[in-house]
Amino acid sequence: MSLLSSPPLVEAAASTAYDPIRLKVPMSLWDLPTPALTIDLEAMESNLLKMKTFYQGKKAKLRPHTKTHKCPIIAKRQIEDGAVGVCAAKVSEAEVMVEAGIGNVLITSPVVTKEKMERVVALAKKSPGVAIVVDQEKNVRDYDDAARAAGVKLPVLIDLNVGTDRTGIAIGKPALDLAEVIRKSSSLTFGGLQAYAGHLMHLRGFEYRKQASEATMGRAVEFKHALEKAGFEVPVLTGGGTGTYNIDCDIDGITDVQVGSYLFMDVNYRNVGGKDGPLYEDFRPSLLVLTTAISQPAKGRITVDAGVKAFATDQEPPDPLSLPGVSYRFAGDEHGILEFRDPRGPAEVKLGDKVLMIASHCDPTVNLYDQYYPFRNERVEEIWPIAGRGKSQ
Ligand SMILES: Cc1ncc(COP(=O)(O)O)c(C=O)c1O
Repeated sequence: MSLLSSPPLVEAAASTAYDPIRLKVPMSLWDLPTPALTIDLEAMESNLLKMKTFYQGKKAKLRPHTKTHKCPIIAKRQIEDGAVGVCAAKVSEAEVMVEAGIGNVLITSPVVTKEKMERVVALAKKSPGVAIVVDQEKNVRDYDDAARAAGVKLPVLIDLNVGTDRTGIAIGKPALDLAEVIRKSSSLTFGGLQAYAGHLMHLRGFEYRKQASEATMGRAVEFKHALEKAGFEVPVLTGGGTGTYNIDCDIDGITDVQVGSYLFMDVNYRNVGGKDGPLYEDFRPSLLVLTTAISQPAKGRITVDAGVKAFATDQEPPDPLSLPGVSYRFAGDEHGILEFRDPRGPAEVKLGDKVLMIASHCDPTVNLYDQYYPFRNERVEEIWPIAGRGKSQ
């Protein structure tokens, strides 16, 4: 089918922002208007299954982070797979998940302004499993006031700084004192600890990552024991991510792991190395951007219609899928250039062709799109709204 005769997507049946929208007429993947954010369903489902199977029989559970996919349809699948709940990075992201009917949402960043704290409390009133992290005394007192005013008991977890130096309170006396303030707050409950070691997730080499995570998360576990000795019940010690999913689950004391990127596996993560080799291939790349080759002003390369508005730019560039000898470089807002190692170029890429690209950093790439086009056997039957897109407040 030519580009001009692609079936119009507006014919799709109406639906809510949180449900799949079924196309009246299924489409070929290759007929999508580009750039299009697609999900290879077979690859994503294999990632979901691999993670689910890996955690069966482990003491630690999964608490996947929705900041990666921002899509309640996917969050529901993760819950169905046995996750104890999900994480949201910000209040507005959590609101989307709660609105879509997802329970046990942990907001993993501190929130300190009055209006947003009131939104957190309102959310907890609506969905009692909602919890938030704190790392400072004033914030705890403000939450206590807000929760009392709303007639809610708000669960709060202490966010520990385990070396990322991004958020969190120091392990030891500062965190112990904060726990005491929470204990004395009549409208708060002490939900436990968050120890997210973001600085370790992309360390190259499995053994190196393992040693670093065991040492770092070990300190969080020690602190958990110290709290218990001081009479605290610590129901949760949450942290970790895709880079340490098969390390943190075996550290006794960690209750759940906040995996995010495993679902999509971006270019960056693939390069950190896995247990079995220099490429991290435990999970398959499933987030693919479909592009079109639109112009060829010079030999040895071809221009596609996807630039910095189509891919995150903070890490490695996207990688053409199954096109050895071809690399991508950004060429402005709307364009990218595929460069051929062999200047004659691979016979496969010609003007008008569609090219699938493995997404660069997955979370910020997702945030550039309103919807996913999930496909199986090159067929698209549904559109999945990215309801949390832009919800970074
Ligand atoms: C607090 C927190 N937890 C979990 C994750 C998920 O990590 P990953 O995508 O490495 O699995 C992130 C990602 O940035 C995060 O910020």
